Amino acid sequence: MEKTLILVKPDGIMKGLIGEILSRFEKRAYKIIALKFIRVSEDKAQKLYAPHFGKPFYEPLIKYITSGPVVSIVIEGDDIIKQARKIIGATNPKEASPGTIRGDFAQKIEYNLIHGSDSEESAQREIPIFFSPEELLSYELNSAYF
Ligand code: RTP
Ligand code: MG
Repeated sequence: MEKTLILVKPDGIMKGLIGEILSRFEKRAYKIIALKFIRVSEDKAQKLYAPHFGKPFYEPLIKYITSGPVVSIVIEGDDIIKQARKIIGATNPKEASPGTIRGDFAQKIEYNLIHGSDSEESAQREIPIFFSPEELLSYELNSAYF
């Protein structure tokens, strides 16, 4: 099953949006298979954003993602990479539709609350930066509880 890396960025923590953001995915019945509250090291930040190295926003981006705690999450589901990007909304909150996380809660491209892997290759590269294979839990959502 497809997996994606989601990060609630430091501004999401400061704005008290951890629950709100997680619930957007839970309500769609996507499966959380790993979750941690962490401080992103310089090294991990550089690995995550290596594709943006050299761009004008690279240095501020590293500063931002390492500036405070982050919630790192792996979510599993059918077509989850594309679906999560839809739930998240456009990179620039000014272009993000209302109803998306960025469209509802962010204002500036520099502080856009959340990260989501943008492709299967990105997800496969990004997940191991934050999680070891044993930390990805395998279980079924049990319909008997509903
Ligand atoms: P992310 O990787 O964080 O999920 O965001 P994304 O795919 O929607 O956007 P991406 O192009 O990968 O850019 C990574 C992050 O860099 C910041 N950014 N700033 N000032 C700018 O023009 C600019 N462009 C990008 C954003 O924080 C973006 O999320
Ligand atoms: Mg990206």
